[in-house]
Amino acid sequence: MTVTEEIHALKKERDAVILAHYYAEPGVQEVADYVGDSFYLSRVAVGLSEQTIVFCGVAFMGESAKILNPEKTVLMPDLGADCPMAHMADAGMIRRMREQYEDLAVVCYINSTAELKKHSDVCVTSANAVKIVRALPNRKIFFIPDRNLARYVARQVPEKHFLFNEGYCPVHEKIQIQELLKAKAEHPEAIVLSHPECAEKVLEQSDHIGSTSEIIGYASKSACEEFIVCTEKGVRWKLEKDNPGKRFYFTDTEPVCRDMKLNTPDKILHVLKTGENEVEVDAGLQELSKKPLERMLELGK
Ligand code: 13P
Ligand code: SF4
Repeated sequence: MTVTEEIHALKKERDAVILAHYYAEPGVQEVADYVGDSFYLSRVAVGLSEQTIVFCGVAFMGESAKILNPEKTVLMPDLGADCPMAHMADAGMIRRMREQYEDLAVVCYINSTAELKKHSDVCVTSANAVKIVRALPNRKIFFIPDRNLARYVARQVPEKHFLFNEGYCPVHEKIQIQELLKAKAEHPEAIVLSHPECAEKVLEQSDHIGSTSEIIGYASKSACEEFIVCTEKGVRWKLEKDNPGKRFYFTDTEPVCRDMKLNTPDKILHVLKTGENEVEVDAGLQELSKKPLERMLELGK
C-alpha cells in the first residue's frame, strides 16, 4: 500500500478526519479531507462527526480545535510546528491596558497561545477581523499580537481607536518591497494579492488584501490571468489546481513558513498508527479560552 492508501485505511479504522492549512505542503493538502484558511478550519472543526481530528497546521490551530472540541482527540503530525507570532504578546500588557483604558476590547488574532486568548474578549482571523471589530460595542481596541493585521483593520474601521502591539509574522514581514516592485516591473499586467500580515509598504502596493482563502477566491473569480502573490508559497498548489492557464508569481525570495512544512504525509501516517502527538490543553485554560473563540464563530458568521 502507498502512504496515501494507508492513511485512508487508518482514517476509517480510527474514525479520524484530516484538516490542513493552505500553507502545508501539497502532499499534505492532497491527503486532507478539509483544506482552508484559519477561519474555515476552525468552523469546520466544530461540526465534525469523527472522534479524532488530525490537524496539519501549527500549534495554535491544533490547540483551538481542541478548545472547541474538548471531548475529541486532536493529533498533530509534528508537535514542534508552532507560530512564532503566537507568543508575541503578554498577559501583563493586556492587564495594564485594561487598567488604563475604559471601554476597551482586547481583540486577539487566532495566531496566539491559549493563554493569550484566555485574557481576550474576542478572537479574529484575517478573514473576519474587519467584520468583528466593526461589530464590537467598544470604541477602543487593543489588537494582539500582529501589528500589521492591526494596522490594516484600523484603516478599514476608522471609527475605532486602536492600540497596537509589536508582534509580527516573520514569514510575511520578510517579503521585501524591492522584490515586489521588481516582480511588478516584470509582470506589469499582474494583479497583486497580499495577506494582511505583510508590512505596510507591501500592502500599499497591493490590489487586493485578504486571507489565504480570499486570495484564492479572488484569483479564481478574476478575469485577469496573472497574479503576484504575497503570502506563504503553499497557496500556489491550490491556486494552480483551481486555475489552470492562469499564472502565479511570488517574490524572488519565496515566503516559506518552516513550521507549516513540518507536516508531512509520513508523519500523518505515524500519528494515525500510534495515536502519538495528542494536543493537550489544561481544563481550566480550555474553559476560559473557549469564550473568545466561540464569540468569533458567532460574530464572524
Ligand atoms: P489565514 O487566516 O489566511 O489562514 O492565515 C493564517 C496564517 O497563519 C497566516 O500567516
Ligand atoms: Fe505564523 Fe507566519 Fe507561519 Fe502563519 S506564516 S503560521 S503567521 S509564522
